[in-house]
Amino acid sequence: MLQRLMLSILLQLIPFVSARCSDPTVTDINMSNLGISEINESLFQNCNPQAYSLDLSGNKITLINATAFASYDDRIHNYIPLFYQLKTLNLNDNKIISVDPNAFKYTKVLNTLYIRDNQLKVIESGMFDLIGDTLVTLVMSNNQISSIGMSVFHTNIRKLRYVDLSHNKMTYMEAWPYIPPSIVVFNLSNNDVNKFTNHLNWTYDLTEPYFTYVDLMYNNFTEWDNEWFWRYQNHKGNYVFELANYRLKLTNNPWNCDCHMYYIISTIQESFYRFAQSEFIHIECEHPANLRKKRIIDVDLSTFVCDSKVDFPFG
Ligand SMILES: *[C@@H]1O[C@H](CO)[C@@H](O)[C@H](O)[C@H]1NC(C)=O
Ligand SMILES: *[C@@H]1O[C@H](CO)[C@@H](O)[C@H](O)[C@H]1NC(C)=O
Ligand SMILES: *[C@@H]1O[C@H](CO)[C@@H](O)[C@H](O)[C@H]1NC(C)=O
Ligand SMILES: *[C@@H]1O[C@H](CO)[C@@H](O)[C@H](O)[C@H]1NC(C)=O
Ligand SMILES: *[C@@H]1O[C@H](CO)[C@@H](O)[C@H](O)[C@H]1NC(C)=O
Ligand SMILES: *[C@@H]1O[C@H](CO)[C@@H](O)[C@H](O)[C@H]1NC(C)=O
Repeated sequence: MLQRLMLSILLQLIPFVSARCSDPTVTDINMSNLGISEINESLFQNCNPQAYSLDLSGNKITLINATAFASYDDRIHNYIPLFYQLKTLNLNDNKIISVDPNAFKYTKVLNTLYIRDNQLKVIESGMFDLIGDTLVTLVMSNNQISSIGMSVFHTNIRKLRYVDLSHNKMTYMEAWPYIPPSIVVFNLSNNDVNKFTNHLNWTYDLTEPYFTYVDLMYNNFTEWDNEWFWRYQNHKGNYVFELANYRLKLTNNPWNCDCHMYYIISTIQESFYRFAQSEFIHIECEHPANLRKKRIIDVDLSTFVCDSKVDFPFG
């Protein structure tokens, strides 16, 4: 008798001890600021499998592993999703250092993912492949990301429209914003980027009107290199005329207006109308001192002393 009484008390207590969902009908689960350090199945006991948003922000989570959002089903000896309709997952303001490549295997309809203010250093290839058909918004600002895997932003990420990677530690820019079919905003502002690379061997295929907007403000660009966009153009033709289509915001960088920039500045000045609507005419020089805060469109090129063999790559 006493044993049965104890058991029934225990059974009543268990959900309140280990589970955080007190109301199994709630579809907006809020588990923010609860001191959670580990995501495991017991955390989600009694939670609504039909929930569409889960807020785990402000905790102490360090890892998101492959079964974080799955439950082990003894009958079929396999993992099944804990949440079938989860659209929004908020992991902001944790201590996440690693996300398993299969972390989103059981959240197949996720469209909004927040991992802002964490400690990620790398975005591994394939990280979003499993949600490539649904992911629309990705916010990973304020981490320490200095490396992005080759195939992270690729054609299999079909719906992605908004990417925020501001306030990270990236030092290079690839053709990432132009490869997935739907990206509208790609924000890499407040990083340390000082060059465009082409490890992906992307070739220019932008057609107007092009809507991607790429924010590279507050980075570390100083020396312009004509090779950067010449590589994207497959070393064919004059890349400067196409620059406006890339929709790059490159202002607020420590640009050095020297002979490296002679070609691009002169071409932009000569084709003012083509660039009138673009961000390029707002770029200002930081160096040399006499040109500081001068817009490249207003710079007097006759004061540049350049070796034409070096500075006119297209002859
Ligand atoms: C969750 O609760 C916190 C307060 O602890 C609140 O700041 C936050 O906005 C809530 N999240 C949602 C998605 O309602
Ligand atoms: C689940 O995580 C909590 C901390 O959040 C921990 O106390 C508990 O032991 C873990 N349970 C399992 C089964 O790993
Ligand atoms: C994921 O984490 C849970 C809880 O910490 C652990 O039980 C499980 O073995 C881990 N799974 C993998 C694939 O690492
Ligand atoms: C990019 O992020 C910065 C810093 O968070 C923000 O100020 C800026 O408005 C963002 N740019 C766009 C285009 O959303
Ligand atoms: C910024 O770029 C310069 C070279 O132009 C380099 O020496 C410096 O280390 C870079 N700073 C950061 C924070 O990447
Ligand atoms: C790009 O081309 C180089 C040289 O041909 C090659 O080594 C590299 O694997 C290519 N990269 C990709 C992502 O295809």
